[in-house]
Amino acid sequence: MINFKEAAINLLADNIDVLTRDEISKLIEIPPSYEMGDFAFPVYKLSKEYKKAPNLISKELEENLPDNEYFEKIEAVGPYLNFFIDKEKLASVVIEEIKEKKEKYGSSSLGEGKKVIVEFSSPNIAKPFHIGHIRSTVIGNSLSKIYKFLGFDVVTINHLGDYGTQFGMLISAYKRWGDKKQIESDPIRELLKLYVRFNSEAEKDPELMDEARFWFKKLEEKDEEALELWQWIRDISLKEFHKVYDLLNISFDSYAGESFYSDKMPAVVEEMKEKGLLKESEGALIVDLEPYGMPPALIMKKDGSTLYTTRDIAAAIYRKEHYDFYKNIYVVASQQNLHFKAWIKILELMGYDWAKDCIHVPFGMVSLEEGTLSTRKGRVVFLEDVLNTAIESTRKIIEERNPNLPNKDEVAKQVGIGAVVFQELFNQRIKDYTFSWERTLSFEGETGPYVQYTHARTNSLLEKGNYDINHEVSYKDLTKEEETNILRNLLQFPEVIIDAMEKNEPYFITRHILELAKLFNKYYNSTSIIVDDENLKQTRLSLVYAVKTVIKTGLSLLGIEAPNKM
Ligand code: ARG
Repeated sequence: MINFKEAAINLLADNIDVLTRDEISKLIEIPPSYEMGDFAFPVYKLSKEYKKAPNLISKELEENLPDNEYFEKIEAVGPYLNFFIDKEKLASVVIEEIKEKKEKYGSSSLGEGKKVIVEFSSPNIAKPFHIGHIRSTVIGNSLSKIYKFLGFDVVTINHLGDYGTQFGMLISAYKRWGDKKQIESDPIRELLKLYVRFNSEAEKDPELMDEARFWFKKLEEKDEEALELWQWIRDISLKEFHKVYDLLNISFDSYAGESFYSDKMPAVVEEMKEKGLLKESEGALIVDLEPYGMPPALIMKKDGSTLYTTRDIAAAIYRKEHYDFYKNIYVVASQQNLHFKAWIKILELMGYDWAKDCIHVPFGMVSLEEGTLSTRKGRVVFLEDVLNTAIESTRKIIEERNPNLPNKDEVAKQVGIGAVVFQELFNQRIKDYTFSWERTLSFEGETGPYVQYTHARTNSLLEKGNYDINHEVSYKDLTKEEETNILRNLLQFPEVIIDAMEKNEPYFITRHILELAKLFNKYYNSTSIIVDDENLKQTRLSLVYAVKTVIKTGLSLLGIEAPNKM
């Protein structure tokens, strides 16, 4: 595709001999409003070089740059040279490209040959997959799609929390008060009850915690009874989690969770010992991180059992050996910032230069309107309930507004889930937010259903107008302001995807397609598209087609479907 910025650089480079192309490229700015052009080149640096007043230099450049097909106007304003993209050229470049690449518009081979691990979701077995986990799941899923779209070789991993002292607690609780049948009828809720009861009784009777540690120790020693109970709890929990993943249409390449590394840890602890990193402290083994401003990291308890940190170190080493990743991304809440900083530092101290490729992608906390979430106190919102409620509410709205819609159930699912996911991906991920049913289920304003609805509208226009992708397009008829605004948005889409990848921020895409939907609706309200003149109609429909395509791709990169009718 023609790159307009590149074209501006070429024109400047041909006329400036004291700056390299690279220097010119770095100087070019995007003005705050299109009235000042699409690109601006500040001439301060040149004025130093030539020892001439800036506004003289910009004027000279204005006179010297030749007429060309990319820019309809190049204008000196004070110390700036402003470039205005030729509107007809813009229309032809963008629409030709989208017609050719279709839903692949914006994709690239940037990541070819590079393996990226995206670890996300990673719920804890036997605990509810609650609204606090939705963020990791939804952000991680979107990132994995973005990396794939840019040509990276993506591996998705669900690092299940299927190991640790809490399993000692569960086994001990089960042996005290558990009922197999009751648990199997509603595994997560029943296991949660056991867990909550265990915690509250342990507050009164601290010996319970010793019993829990005893059972976890047994599990680490591969005691048959402990292992069997653990396996059963893991199986029934995973089955429950899959209900959520199925609703969201998510699957993982690997479910290697914490337990997977249990037999890989002795070697890692040994290696840390050999490298002189371990210190004894009250019988336990730690790494002193004080020189790096962090508290000591506990690697092995005095009873010989390992910890979350140990497992993360073992997992990273395994992943490097097994996948030879280019990036190893962890989508995990910001509460764990210190945990990640610490174990990545330890990898570095072990001499692994690839430690820098282990990237923690944190996100802010979710609280309920009634207060913070707490599994231990049983204060949770179940993700499955959130999704199902969203689907039911959508179903009701469809029944009111469009009772004759075919596939009502399917559309209710796509839109209900789209509403939840879109809200999740609407803000910078690090922002804390309060989960609210009302906001999630509002289908007006800046919501997923609004964007999906715009997509359905473009689809019905294309059908109604019998859009023919091979019909010749008269690009000079796509140069009105509303059209140009849409085309600029479409032009930027590929760069927005790359930005989203580089910063691991799906919300760049959310905002971009929301803006596109708004621009399109403005156009739709000001211009009749299905006109009698067949050429003009096909020309306008080609823009509609481009909008539809980009909205659909954008939504799919967020993990949201785009129904054709709703
Ligand atoms: N299971 C953990 C939790 O729910 C998240 C795991 C994050 N991943 C990791 N490699 N530590 O808090």
